[in-house]
Amino acid sequence: MSQRSRNLPRRSCLSSPGSSERFLQKATSVPADMSFLDLEDSVAPAEKVAARKKVVQAIRDLDWDDRVLCVRINAWDTPWTYQDVIEVVGESGARLDEVMLPKVQSASEIVALDLLLTQVEKNVGLPVGHIGIEAQIETTKGLIEVESICAASARLETVIFGPADFAASMEMPVLTGGIQIDDYPGDHFHYVFSKILMAGRANGLQVIDGPYLKVRDPEGLVDYCKRTSTLGYDGKWALTPDQVTVINSMYSPTQELFDKAWNILDAYKAATSSEGKGAVMFGDEMIDEASRKMAMKFVSRGERAGLKRSSNG
Ligand code: GLV
Ligand code: MG
Repeated sequence: MSQRSRNLPRRSCLSSPGSSERFLQKATSVPADMSFLDLEDSVAPAEKVAARKKVVQAIRDLDWDDRVLCVRINAWDTPWTYQDVIEVVGESGARLDEVMLPKVQSASEIVALDLLLTQVEKNVGLPVGHIGIEAQIETTKGLIEVESICAASARLETVIFGPADFAASMEMPVLTGGIQIDDYPGDHFHYVFSKILMAGRANGLQVIDGPYLKVRDPEGLVDYCKRTSTLGYDGKWALTPDQVTVINSMYSPTQELFDKAWNILDAYKAATSSEGKGAVMFGDEMIDEASRKMAMKFVSRGERAGLKRSSNG
């Protein structure tokens, strides 16, 4: 399994078109937790083949620090997928952590990619299982099948919601993917967000929200981040450096909650070990084993985001 990247943070996942050397170079200086070099929808059909070489070169030659590094290949219903994998995985070397498969419709698409990756890894001398998979859920069929998709391969590291393609697949009456529909009484994506989150978590995956396309609207982005960060999503795509800044902050626990989580762990440990109790008061709250589990999630997420416990915490 792709151990290096599996548990790295993915608060901000920066998209860069694989056909643009300038954007690929620029991406290395943006402090995103994860970068993906795109061969899919941000690359024009006439540029698809040439973009593979640019992406390989960028992975080999540029300094990507220790972020998660991924290439989004084209979906299985195009003519490009297998050659994307053979060329990009075959020539990029060990620095490539994962490939992202868009428009996943069934578990068999993940299995097919897993098998192809195994052959390429064997041929080029990478450890089998080195390359992880990110699965994009962005069609009605993909959402219906999301539970089996998330369980389809040990290579899977994340599941991602793609709001723009999903809105098209649902034939929603919108022209900007992912934004709130004012006339709808509630959040029209609530069911989708929850369903993907449950399927991902049930299989130990990180769960990521897709792009917010109004790139000059930081307030709208904050609102949109709240829709999934409050549910428990790990992160969100970013299309610009400014979006990375907002997203890194919106998907990190606050210092206050991080410190509180540590204090709960300490109080619970003292109660269970020296006092022999399973439930104990913490301030004006009762805490027990479930509280310990919630606190552990905050601690590991905060640590992944680089937080340190305050000395007076
Ligand atoms: C992303 O790929 C989307 O379709 O929203
Ligand atoms: Mg899409």
